[in-house]
Amino acid sequence: MERVSTGIEELDRKLSGGYPENKVTLITGVAGSGKTIYGIHFLHRNCVEGRKCLMIATEETPEDILYQAELLGHDIKPYYESGQLTIENIFKSRSEIIGQTRYGFKPESFDIEIPNLIEFIRDGTECLVIDNLGTLALRVPIKKLRDQFDGLNYLVRKKGCTTLLIMDESAHNLTNQIAEYSVYGSIRLLVKENAYLGKMERYLYIPKMRSTPISLDMSIFEITSEGIKIRDAEGENLVE
Ligand SMILES: Nc1ncnc2c1ncn2[C@@H]1O[C@H](COP(=O)(O)OP(=O)(O)OP(=O)(O)O)[C@@H](O)[C@H]1O
Ligand SMILES: [Mg+2]
Repeated sequence: MERVSTGIEELDRKLSGGYPENKVTLITGVAGSGKTIYGIHFLHRNCVEGRKCLMIATEETPEDILYQAELLGHDIKPYYESGQLTIENIFKSRSEIIGQTRYGFKPESFDIEIPNLIEFIRDGTECLVIDNLGTLALRVPIKKLRDQFDGLNYLVRKKGCTTLLIMDESAHNLTNQIAEYSVYGSIRLLVKENAYLGKMERYLYIPKMRSTPISLDMSIFEITSEGIKIRDAEGENLVE
């Protein structure tokens, strides 16, 4: 199977080269755990490699994303300006439409069906990040949600996109983690105390990656001014 670089060397090594091409990988994690930054690495690397990329955002504006990427030394602005990279905040574009009606701004009426996200994807898009699907998932009755995830999964693959689906931990748990079953692979980000060092650290765990030999051991990662650095947690400063 072909792989598409994650934009993080150590993660590429863990995944036999990168995210499985033309499949959907889910990234979940608590607030501030680094989900969007994983998305930025994926977009930056694939823009550099000449691929057409799209980020569908539900929370942050394109300016927020571009600024965060620049701070991490992964400037994606040139690709955004040239049109190779599109960043679309769907709620902003919908609010503009709804804002033009006499009913004004009504966020509760943004009941986008998840598979309809496909309307935002231009033909030829090779790398897709959807951040954060949790915002939409919480609006769908649980009995319809599995079908909606499966529908999105089918449609993005039909479009030829290698997809990173980002979902916040809270929405993921409230939806019984069912997104996990529709996707090809899943990566979980955690922030927890390293009991040996008595300090909080960021961890990455890969519960599932079909057709890929993976280690179930957790890795530690840091977010630095040069982006994400991952190292294996095994034997990590266990005795001081
Ligand atoms: N240059 C940097 N150096 C160190 N840490 C950074 C840097 N830039 C961002 N961070 C850290 O990254 C964290 C945010 O990462 P990110 O936005 O990817 O999280 P997230 O999981 O997407 O959060 P949310 O659930 O709010 O969307 C911030 O809390 C910040 O502490
Ligand atoms: Mg985020």
